[in-house]
Amino acid sequence: MPNLLILGIETSCDETGVALYDSVTGQLTHALHSQIEMHAGYGGVVPELASRDHIRRIIPLIENVIKESMRSLSELDAIAVTRGPGLGGALLVGSSVAAGLAAALGKPVIGIHHLEGHLLSPLLSVPRPEFPFVALLVSGGHTQLMAVMGVGQYRLLGETVDDAAGEAFDKTASLLGLSYPGGPALSKLAELGNPRRYNLPRPMIGSGDLEFSFSGLKTAALTLIRKLEAVSPVDPQYRADVAAAFQAAIVDVLIAKSLAALRSTGMTRLVVAGGVGGNKSLRRELTRAAETCGAKVFYPPLELCTDNGAMIAFAAAMRLGEHPTLLENSDTSFNIKSRWPLVEIPAN
Ligand code: KG4
Ligand code: ZN
Repeated sequence: MPNLLILGIETSCDETGVALYDSVTGQLTHALHSQIEMHAGYGGVVPELASRDHIRRIIPLIENVIKESMRSLSELDAIAVTRGPGLGGALLVGSSVAAGLAAALGKPVIGIHHLEGHLLSPLLSVPRPEFPFVALLVSGGHTQLMAVMGVGQYRLLGETVDDAAGEAFDKTASLLGLSYPGGPALSKLAELGNPRRYNLPRPMIGSGDLEFSFSGLKTAALTLIRKLEAVSPVDPQYRADVAAAFQAAIVDVLIAKSLAALRSTGMTRLVVAGGVGGNKSLRRELTRAAETCGAKVFYPPLELCTDNGAMIAFAAAMRLGEHPTLLENSDTSFNIKSRWPLVEIPAN
């Protein structure tokens, strides 16, 4: 990999992430401001508030990262920024700051696909997976299985036909009275519950393809919760047991489809990325199931599972390592892409 110092900026949703990545030493300094508390009262992300908060946080975060790493802006080789997909206004904040810095410093801007950031982030873990591998991308907006042959060489194997796994976690958590984002809270509650007390469906587990569906599971959880809440007196244990049953159903589906993807591609490495990849039960069960099939699972460090600037800086370093000419094709226009299928990104 060439000797590069890259500033990474992520503002696609509700986290302002900034990182500095040195491609030779591997030194990574990153800082994050999560807007979760600000949005919690609304039960979800309010796009206008998200953009305004990114504006407030981004410059101080860049200053912190530069100071903490004891480097200077003049040493940068490139500025990497999430170009999409994501919330339009939020993406514009990162994109305009990157363009402004680039113009002031005379450095190039590298626009990165948010999911490519998640997809390559397990390469920051030790041991690092070799190409090719199957990637399970499980976030609030996406649930996809991809075959990853190399940097920029991605083939979609299957995806959700309705809700994303994280979205299902968030919606079911909300039914259980847990605050946004519900995934981490639901999985914590599930630790206190019995996953076998209630049986929830495993949608499309036997469909024979690599597609997912989670909206029926959420509806089944809703029906069950309503039934249990109508019983008097209400069983104090029911919420934890429903949470455990729901988590077990999602985990079972994600495992079955991931193993099927390994079988159909003949690959032996599985990489898990995206916020739901931080789920402890998924990590434990998937690692065990993959081992029995002779496959190995790789996860990004926990702190890099959810949105962050490090994965954006790192993805840019990987791209530049393969295609150094990208440095000459800097695009400083604000051409964000709110909708941007990963399979449409150029291979180089
Ligand atoms: O990748 P991410 O930070 O943002 C995007 O959607 O791009 O993922 C956030 C999603 C949310 O739906 C959140 O509830 C879920 O990941 N999540 C979890 C856990 N941590 C985050 N879901 C289940 N268990 C967790 N431990
Ligand atoms: Zn994400």
